[in-house]
Amino acid sequence: MKQFISAHDISDIDAFVEKALDYKSNPFRDKTLGVNKRVGLLFLNPSMRTRLSTQVAAQNLGMESIVFNVGSEGWALEFEEGAVMNGARVEHVKDAAPIMGNYFDILCIRTFPSLLNREEDYSEQYINQFIKYAGIPVISLESATLHPLQSFTDIITITEELRKKPLARKPKIVLSWAPHVKALPQCVANSFSQWVNVWGNADFIIAHPEGYELDPSFTKGATITHDQDEALKDADFVYVKNWSAYNDYGKIFTSDPAWMLTNRKLALTNDAKVMHCLPVRRNIELSDEVLDGPNSIITREASNRVWAAQTVLAEILKSGSHG
Ligand code: CP
Repeated sequence: MKQFISAHDISDIDAFVEKALDYKSNPFRDKTLGVNKRVGLLFLNPSMRTRLSTQVAAQNLGMESIVFNVGSEGWALEFEEGAVMNGARVEHVKDAAPIMGNYFDILCIRTFPSLLNREEDYSEQYINQFIKYAGIPVISLESATLHPLQSFTDIITITEELRKKPLARKPKIVLSWAPHVKALPQCVANSFSQWVNVWGNADFIIAHPEGYELDPSFTKGATITHDQDEALKDADFVYVKNWSAYNDYGKIFTSDPAWMLTNRKLALTNDAKVMHCLPVRRNIELSDEVLDGPNSIITREASNRVWAAQTVLAEILKSGSHG
């Protein structure tokens, strides 16, 4: 495996989930796989779970990890080909990335979208430039449009839950838009939709207010509704997430608190398990009663990030495509 930036970089999601659950039951099974190997974690934006879980995962494989907060501590990077660099950007990615490619065996990168220019954000220029110039495998720690390690974790967590409480039918999974105080990227919602669709083992519904349609290339195959209560009926999993508009790019049309997931709404479901990628705005996106209640599997979901990252790092190391 040379890169991990979307669901399409994996040939068999279920097989990957098995590997991740195997690591969960035996974290040090491959404790020497990464000895004398180094992974660089580049953050152009803040992170808690992604950074720590990937570092723990690397350590479980005997691999050294080095974190570089490029966004706050590094030279400001230029990504435009042919740029005349007479502004604030100090170093071109085509100069920086090959050096990182020599320092590390695997490069992991987190970038965010601007939410100002859809074409630019959806071109995934930042991560693609690193892939082009680093010369070593690249793992997305969240890009402008997708968050694959989060979504892989989400499928791991859903699979784990279905093993505890098997269903005689496909699970009904609802991705439910939630209010927020600011414009957020579509990454998590895009990515969750892509992974659930590629996985293909669920009845998948997306509920959001009018104006919050996502990129159809990710949601194709899902049922889309503006009626949250109807969507929640008999749901087995509710994935709560805010996102800003894709069509009227980066805009917020409503923060209607009626879309917050509460116990009253949860009562419509089939005792659904509640998921969220975190960080979460309490009593805006989800009520305290839901977050602190028995249906929330959010902490386990975040804890499972380690096994997703460990599986991806191990797969790259085993494939021999690392530097
Ligand atoms: N869910 C997630 O990616 O969390 P962080 O932003 O803290 O890494």
